[in-house]
Amino acid sequence: MPLYRKLEALKLARSSYKGNALGVVPTMGALHQGHLSLIAKAKRESEVVWVTIFVNPTQFEKKDDLDKYPESLAADVAAIYEIGADIHIFAPTATDMYPEGLATRGQRLDGLDNLMEGADRPGHFDGVITIVAKLFEVLQPHQAYFGEKDFQQLQVIKKWAKDQHIPTRIIPCPIVREASGLAMSSRNAQLSPKDRKEAGFIYETMLQCKNKSLDKPAVYTTTKKAFSAHPNFDLRYVLCAEEDSLKEVHDLVSANKPRLFIAASVAGVRLIDNIALK
Ligand code: PAF
Repeated sequence: MPLYRKLEALKLARSSYKGNALGVVPTMGALHQGHLSLIAKAKRESEVVWVTIFVNPTQFEKKDDLDKYPESLAADVAAIYEIGADIHIFAPTATDMYPEGLATRGQRLDGLDNLMEGADRPGHFDGVITIVAKLFEVLQPHQAYFGEKDFQQLQVIKKWAKDQHIPTRIIPCPIVREASGLAMSSRNAQLSPKDRKEAGFIYETMLQCKNKSLDKPAVYTTTKKAFSAHPNFDLRYVLCAEEDSLKEVHDLVSANKPRLFIAASVAGVRLIDNIALK
C-alpha cells in the first residue's frame, strides 16, 4: 500500500494521475467506522483515492487537547488496506505541512465560523481551512469527503471553497453512530466505558425533539432537562439553526432546513452532534 510521509514524494505520485476522478478523504487519523464509510464512498466514486492522516496543530486551541489526541497510524493503515490496497495514504509531519511555523491563513466566512465551535474554540476554523487549503493545493482533488458530524466544519469548508473558486466537489457523508446512538468520533476512545454508554442520551434527546416536532423553546428546555439528569455531562451549547447559514431559527415550522446542534463535554472530552429536524 502506498504510504507517503514527505510532501515531495506525494507531489511526484500526484503528478502521474491525469484523470478527473481523484477523491480525497482528509482525516486526523485514529480512524473509526465513520471515517471508513467516507473512505469506502470515496473508493466507490473515484478512480484514485488519497486519505490524509495529519493531526493538525493549528486547529487545537488548547495544547493539552492536541497532546492527548489519539494516534494509531499502523491500525489506520491496516483498516484502509481492507477497503483498498491501492488507496494512497499521506501522513506528513507538522514540519512538512508548516515549514515556516504554525501560522494560519485568516478567512472571511460571513460569520459561519463565529458561532458554536467557532465561539467555543477561537481560531479553530482558521486552522481547519489552512490545512484543508494546503492539502487541496498539493492533491488537487476533484472531490473531497467530509462527515456531517462536523456539520459546521462542512459548511465552513463549502463556503471557503465557493468563495475561493476551488473546483473540488465537497461531498457530505452521513453520521455513523455507535450502538448507544453516540456519534462516532476519534475522541470517543478517550471516554470511560461508563461515560461512552451513557452519552447515548444525547442522540436520544435529539431524536425525541425531532420525533415530537417540538418548537424551539421546547427543544431547548428538553435538552437542558436531559443534561440535568446527567450531571457529569456539561452542555456547551444547544442551537436550532438553519442548515446553510447556521443562523438561529426562530420558528421551526417555517424554517428552511432546520437542524439541532449540541456540544457537550464529559471528563474533558468534547462531543458534538446534530440532526436534521425536518
Ligand atoms: O475533520 C477532521 O478530521 C479535521 O478537521 C480535518 C478536516 C481533517 C482537518 O484537519
